Amino acid sequence: MRPVVALVPAAGRGVRLGETTPKAFVPVGGTPMVRLAVDGLIASGAVHRVVVVVPAELVDVASTLLSTTSLTGGSMPPVPVQVVAGGAERTDSVRAGIAAAPDAGHFLVHDAARALTPPELIARVAAELHAGSPAVVPALPVVDTVKSVDDTGVVTGTPDRAHLRAIQTPQGFGAELLRRAYATEVGATDDAGLVERLGTAVRTVPGDPLAFKITTPLDLRLAEALLADGAASDRAGRSSDTTTAAEQAVLR
Ligand code: C5P
Repeated sequence: MRPVVALVPAAGRGVRLGETTPKAFVPVGGTPMVRLAVDGLIASGAVHRVVVVVPAELVDVASTLLSTTSLTGGSMPPVPVQVVAGGAERTDSVRAGIAAAPDAGHFLVHDAARALTPPELIARVAAELHAGSPAVVPALPVVDTVKSVDDTGVVTGTPDRAHLRAIQTPQGFGAELLRRAYATEVGATDDAGLVERLGTAVRTVPGDPLAFKITTPLDLRLAEALLADGAASDRAGRSSDTTTAAEQAVLR
């Protein structure tokens, strides 16, 4: 079987969190987000190899940071972690990751900034790929009403909320499909958006509130609190009690 390769774009230089460090290297509970994200992928038992994409000047730092990742994925052998240099846009970084894994059978593309993503969610996406879906995304119902607006801020429409979903990562793809999507890239805010343009059906699996993207200072405080609670730190096996508590905290 050709390997399942996780790509972790972590080359964003944006410092929306108010820190001077690139976002993926900001610590949460004392551990850089990128390390938490990689540990979660490995703990899922669904990944054979990880390619982490970082700013060129941080390749050495990241290699050291991730070389001590000692988790193995359940019964799987140790999971190698490779670090490569990314690009200016997220799509450039993902493209660099794809190029580093020519032998991949499936890709799981996972934002480093979704550092608390439960391993069970990652395994769910991989299982759907193995069941034959070519493209899989985790999805959550939208709790707010969403409106479209024009350039002046005037509302132009209100889509039916029942048919809207907030999409998370990891997003899973057959390797050839993702390569094809990136060969014809015209810009998208997620990888599935590129695949949709090829006319391929993208399947959803249930997402998890803990897979939120740590973007704002408020997100960072929430992530710190969740880790301090222990609600999101036991990556190898959360009890259903702590999951419920964490989800309630996120939904509050
Ligand atoms: O900035 P945004 O929230 O879209 O970033 C999502 C993920 O993509 C983050 O993990 C970030 O580090 C990564 N990224 C990247 N290369 C870029 C921009 C973002 O790897 N040029």
